[in-house]
Amino acid sequence: MALINKAIFPVAGLGTRFLPATKAQPKEMLPVVDKPLIQYAVEEAYAAGIRQMIFVNGRNKRAIPDHFDTAFELETELENANKRELLSLVHSIKPDDMECIYIRQPKALGLGHAVLCAQCVVVNEPFAVLLADDLMVGKPPVLKQMVDQFAEWQASILAVQEVPAEQTKRYGIVAGTPISDRLMDLSHMVEKPAPEDAPSRLGVAGRYILTPGVFREIATQPRGVGGEIQLTDGIAALLRREKVFAYRYEGKRYDCGSKEGFLQANVELALDHPELGASFRAYLKALEI
Ligand code: UTP
Repeated sequence: MALINKAIFPVAGLGTRFLPATKAQPKEMLPVVDKPLIQYAVEEAYAAGIRQMIFVNGRNKRAIPDHFDTAFELETELENANKRELLSLVHSIKPDDMECIYIRQPKALGLGHAVLCAQCVVVNEPFAVLLADDLMVGKPPVLKQMVDQFAEWQASILAVQEVPAEQTKRYGIVAGTPISDRLMDLSHMVEKPAPEDAPSRLGVAGRYILTPGVFREIATQPRGVGGEIQLTDGIAALLRREKVFAYRYEGKRYDCGSKEGFLQANVELALDHPELGASFRAYLKALEI
């Protein structure tokens, strides 16, 4: 039994920064090269030993369950056409030992609220939260690095990275006492501060390991920045009762909730792609930008 066996994927945001692409589908279904963002995140959780995937869905709810469900017609077609490789590719989307659970967030009241919607399934275990629009590339995968840290510290752990001073307004920003090169014992955190109010330049990225105590804190917080129920506010309250660590992960993050980050991810992952990489590189060179 893994230490962390459940992951929450909040996928009920409105994705307004990516309109019109997100009018009728969640942004987590946008593909980077040939895979939707949500599949990268689920694969990362699976690689960290997690087997129960909990999706908190919103109004465009069908695409994600459809993606992880068996597609009988497609599989029969591929079988009849003897397309074995494609068939095993389709099967690999949901390994047999992986369970998918879907919960509805009736209204997009904020990330904290989305996490709270999954409390009935998580109940009393530590769990992971992955924001699939943050595409993480790391070796070992970023969530695996965090699960390893959790095994050592048995406390909530937030993935952080250094962000440019002018971007603190986009992140939860943390402050605390450094324990090692990569780990910090948190004293406080602030959601989206202006650069002059930011306690550091360490911004929270979309990967968390949280203890179940956070549910009670989220539930009792007043609405925060933007009138939303903020996960950051719940965690800030939690760290007054329990230890919470920030972990500076090894790897790269692409902010695929923004058009620029999404394009960067597509270009860099295409260059690394085993089949497309060489020809795509030649194509980019020929553009002579
Ligand atoms: P964002 O802050 O990126 O918001 O949410 P958003 O609505 O998805 O996108 P924009 O800013 O309008 O373009 C961070 C994560 O939290 C989820 C989103 O799906 C995303 O994974 N979320 C946010 C919810 O599940 N429910 C909410 O009420 C808000």
